[in-house]
Amino acid sequence: MQVRFADSRPTGDFALVLPVAGKDRSALSSLGPAQGAVVSALDRQRFEGEPSSAAEQFVDDGGTLRRVLAVGIGGGASPGDAAEKLGGTAVARLLTSGEKTAVIDLSGLNFDDDAAARVGLAAALRSWRYDRYRTKLKDKHKPTLGEVVIVGGGSGAAERYASRWQPVYEGVALTRELVTEPANIIYPQSFVERVTASLEGTGVEIEVLDRAAMEKLGMGALLGVAQGSVKEARLLVLRWNGGQEGAQPTAFVGKGVTFDTGGISIKPAQGMEAMKWDMGGAGAVVGAFKALALRKAKANLVGICGLVENMPDGNAQRPGDVVTTLSGQTVEVINTDAEGRLVLADALTYVQRNYKPTTIIDLATLTGAILVSLGFEWAGLFSNNEELAARLIAVGEESGDKLWRMPMAEPFDRLIDSPIADVKNVGPREGGSITAAMFIQRFVENGVKWAHVDMAGKAWSDKASDTYDKGATGFGVRLLDQYVADVLKG
Ligand code: BES
Ligand code: MN
Ligand code: ZN
Repeated sequence: MQVRFADSRPTGDFALVLPVAGKDRSALSSLGPAQGAVVSALDRQRFEGEPSSAAEQFVDDGGTLRRVLAVGIGGGASPGDAAEKLGGTAVARLLTSGEKTAVIDLSGLNFDDDAAARVGLAAALRSWRYDRYRTKLKDKHKPTLGEVVIVGGGSGAAERYASRWQPVYEGVALTRELVTEPANIIYPQSFVERVTASLEGTGVEIEVLDRAAMEKLGMGALLGVAQGSVKEARLLVLRWNGGQEGAQPTAFVGKGVTFDTGGISIKPAQGMEAMKWDMGGAGAVVGAFKALALRKAKANLVGICGLVENMPDGNAQRPGDVVTTLSGQTVEVINTDAEGRLVLADALTYVQRNYKPTTIIDLATLTGAILVSLGFEWAGLFSNNEELAARLIAVGEESGDKLWRMPMAEPFDRLIDSPIADVKNVGPREGGSITAAMFIQRFVENGVKWAHVDMAGKAWSDKASDTYDKGATGFGVRLLDQYVADVLKG
């Protein structure tokens, strides 16, 4: 679906989308003689203009029968927020409606260039779907909407969309695709290939470590997870040098478990198919790199994806095995299903040794326990730095990828002491997300600012929102993008 910006409504066939601010229906005055009928149609649908609500009516528009979709934007929300709800709601209603073009008329609203551009972003995001494996989709259920035209949005909106938000759409789309693909299609090597193809021409530098290279370095924790799978592990390293030459980078690290059976500590069958999206953290990192490269962010960044498949097999690691991490610390693997932290441990050491980042943000679908704590609305945030945590929470609010800070403290660290090795990979059931974070923190070196985002509840959604349909959300891309924009000024 294309997003365009224009000065005035086109001629011909299109559905007209009019934003309505709560009970104030002044936006409908542009309908001329049809206004009265539309107002009573909205009343009879009990439409009150609340954000994300919509109601429609067909009118005679100078001789053409036209669908008019009123979309509520509420009274008080910030323009950016209202803008995204408007673009997303309009597309959700019209995507398979039979209409080919939607014209969203912003005339009379107080939207600045950015807000108008974000109408376009949300429209594009909400239109994303993945029909690759549906060979029998009925015509009636196929998308018809090929174009959204935004009018009345101000002269800088098109430029703002192209330079700031279309790149974000492209990044989120890549992440959603990777997360949606099943694990027989996306495994470590094919993840690398898909990403390499998608980032071609963006200027992102790519380096890949295969199993032999990681073995040589001594990444025993990551490789221990991978050893039960016939799919070999990979470490994907992305670099974007848009900042000052020589300035220390910021690192983004993603958990990329392309399928998590649990290993020998195998998961129950019920719902296990969901574990194809256990690479959502790695997906977010590569999507963010695509967005940041396309918008030429002025920052030095390194992205690391630890890519493995966690399978039970004659060669799989056992509960009780002791592995030696790249850091030199030893880990007693109590539960092979607590594999994400093992992958992250070696990825963290690798990035600190090779790239000396000042700050690391890791993203991981790490624990079921975070769902118990926070449900599906917020991801958990853990950090060793107050300022970094505060900034990330603010960035989360602004981007819509919301974060809730969780505690970290020494008593939790005692819970992962091992009787045989330096640390064990699980603590008790209680506080499971916190002991997971404490485990990761043991691999953060002195002086490095670090934040960990446990996004187990956020990579995938069973219900649609303003900016996504059911399925892969693309969580994390906008968070990292906005972090670079606000905190790194890039
Ligand atoms: N990938 C899972 C976490 C997860 C669970 C993500 C549900 C999304 C939805 C992770 O590898 C895992 O299995 N964690 C275990 C840890 C436990 C063994 C300490 C869990 O949360 O049960
Ligand atoms: Mn697991
Ligand atoms: Zn996992």
